[in-house]
Amino acid sequence: MGNVIILGSQWGDEGKGKIVDLFAERFDIVARYQGGHNAGHTVFIGEKKFVLKLIPSGILRPGKQAVIGNGLVIDPAALLSEIESLESAGVAVAANLFISDRAHVLFPAHRMMEKMSEGREGKISIGTTSRGIGPCYEDKIARRGIRIADLLDTEFFRAQYDSVMEEKVVIARALGIDSELDLKAIRAEYEAFAERIRPMVCDTSMLLNNAIRDGKTVMFEGAQGTMLDIDHGTYPFVTSSSASAGGACTGTGVAPTRIHGVIGVSKAYITRVGGGPFPTEAFDHAGELIRQRGKEFGAVTGRPRRCGWFDVPLLRYTATINGFDSIVVTKLDVLDEFDQIPVCVGYRIEGREVCGMPSRVSEIAKIEPVYESVPGWSTSTFGIANYEELPAKAKQYIAFLEARTGVEVGCISTGPERNQTIVRPGSRFEKLIG
Ligand code: GDP
Ligand code: IMO
Ligand code: MG
Repeated sequence: MGNVIILGSQWGDEGKGKIVDLFAERFDIVARYQGGHNAGHTVFIGEKKFVLKLIPSGILRPGKQAVIGNGLVIDPAALLSEIESLESAGVAVAANLFISDRAHVLFPAHRMMEKMSEGREGKISIGTTSRGIGPCYEDKIARRGIRIADLLDTEFFRAQYDSVMEEKVVIARALGIDSELDLKAIRAEYEAFAERIRPMVCDTSMLLNNAIRDGKTVMFEGAQGTMLDIDHGTYPFVTSSSASAGGACTGTGVAPTRIHGVIGVSKAYITRVGGGPFPTEAFDHAGELIRQRGKEFGAVTGRPRRCGWFDVPLLRYTATINGFDSIVVTKLDVLDEFDQIPVCVGYRIEGREVCGMPSRVSEIAKIEPVYESVPGWSTSTFGIANYEELPAKAKQYIAFLEARTGVEVGCISTGPERNQTIVRPGSRFEKLIG
């Protein structure tokens, strides 16, 4: 038991929220390290449904500390509304949430810039969540971003805000776009936001490192998934942050030497929202059946998720990038009705075998998946919490994934609720999570 990163191994929505919430109980702190309110992590606790966007799923565990790391971009309006809705559902947020003074602030102008860019004729649309995430990270990397610490320093904030926004207005005008934003009113609104979040802001890197020094444990919660990582994903059809394991260090200020394990979360199949190549996408009735059974509609935008078959080469790739010690396979129950389950075990392009993941999306789009058909179990696995109770063919499916990916499946999810989960006795997963 130590400090562990839990992150998505596909294109997001793997069920990270459920898994983080479930195992947060065993850690002292849960820390988010990248992304913003583009994330939608769904957690069911009995009849209650929570969709967490910016706040780590660990907040749902009473007494646990939740950290929003420096790697995030924060829309204060979205954050405050998330806090309010959690508190009205009886979750104690304010006392347990710590926000990095180095995280970046997202403004309505970022959404405007994104709308301009996504809507421009001739531009390939990424199919973003339209939350302004990309433009906010652009400002960060261009060294003109406004950080939470800057927002809290009113005088400095006013000057910096005016200068940054002036530039945006110039760009909008040059592109012939009439900005409808009332920049002065927004500035005043953000000054009010600052006062509301001030009590939760601190140097979270220091907080985490001190806690680790004192023997406390941290779970690092990834948002999005490795294939949406800005460096390692299907660029440019990615998000603008480091969703992979490396991002946990840069996004929280905790060194790699303080982290003891990495766990990937993968669906028993695969989904993607937005544009970009997807080698195993199922366009037929089977894809639709997965969508309906798995309720595969975006938690943030409500868009139907594209659905397809488990992709072994992709998992091998993301396991390498992240160094997975173990993976969690979620939504096994969604496959209950299939007689046969195709699994992609290799890639070919123009008849040639492909090793690894091509760097260019035009190449990925040409991939011809090589499928092997694995017998389905045609009986319900919904809610099974004990490995021995799984039907033999479901166990064979899991064994097949392990053998082909070379990664242990240490945990299996069979339903959205906490107790619908199997932890395999003696697994590396069990040792890491305790
Ligand atoms: P995240 O973004 O990775 O946290 O995943 P999402 O919350 O966006 O999407 C996963 C969805 O699947 C949520 O609605 C979960 O409640 C649901 N879910 C998670 N695990 C399981 C499972 O094992 N079986 C079923 N049927 N649903 C699950
Ligand atoms: P969670 O944490 C699935 C996708 C968008 C789009 C691309 C870029 O719930 O797994 P952005 O708004 O980030 O600039 O959009 O990334 N995307 C996600 N897809 N789950 C997510 O988060 C996502 N966050 C972003 O659909 O294709
Ligand atoms: Mg999601």
